[in-house]
Amino acid sequence: MPSIQACLFDLDGVIVDTAQYHYIAWRELANGLGFDLSIEQNELLKGVSRMESLEIILGIGGVQMPEEEKLTRAAIKNARYLELCMQMTPADTLPGVRNFLDELKQNSIRIGLGSASKNARAILERIDMLAYFETIVDGNRITKGKPDPQVFLLGAEDLNTPPVSCAVFEDAVAGIQSAKAAGMLAVGIGQASVLTEADVVVPGFTNFSLSHLEELAASL
Ligand code: BG6
Ligand code: MG
Repeated sequence: MPSIQACLFDLDGVIVDTAQYHYIAWRELANGLGFDLSIEQNELLKGVSRMESLEIILGIGGVQMPEEEKLTRAAIKNARYLELCMQMTPADTLPGVRNFLDELKQNSIRIGLGSASKNARAILERIDMLAYFETIVDGNRITKGKPDPQVFLLGAEDLNTPPVSCAVFEDAVAGIQSAKAAGMLAVGIGQASVLTEADVVVPGFTNFSLSHLEELAASL
């Protein structure tokens, strides 16, 4: 594989741990409909768009509702989610992320975001990380969600970098599939037993450096 010229990052679960806030807000929605949502069920929602997540949750509860009510409930969930996110500070950026992004910048590796979230800019601003990203491909821009490669292909295009020279950092199975379908190096953030299609899986960015990434790219 050629050397890496650009890195594309998922947001939720890679840059910052927002899954806990998504869970609280979705659980409140489920409880309001008379059923509960377990932490294991919440895992099914990682990397999945807001409206697709709602469909999965309604399926879990065996609840049906008109499209208009779905939009209203999703909007209420999002308002609650954003309210919870406002508790975050720059200290909530996941360990090692800032150092790794600084190292990329120092080595002229281009940096982009590839996220299903429509709140990506607001979250990055909240944790003071917006300035790192040369491009943001988010849920407002994509027409096909992960595992479709669109989100990362658009990021590569914005950064004028061929997909084969891009690395993707992802915590969701659908996100790893999206990266591989885009022809990119996929670094899983989490557990190897879950992210089985990733080229490599690391628990997080602590102790991870550009030299690790380059070694990996050279070995493929
Ligand atoms: C993804 C999260 O990054 O964004 C999902 O992993 C979430 O859990 C999705 O549903 C959409 O996010 P938002 O902020 O647009 O509701
Ligand atoms: Mg994620």
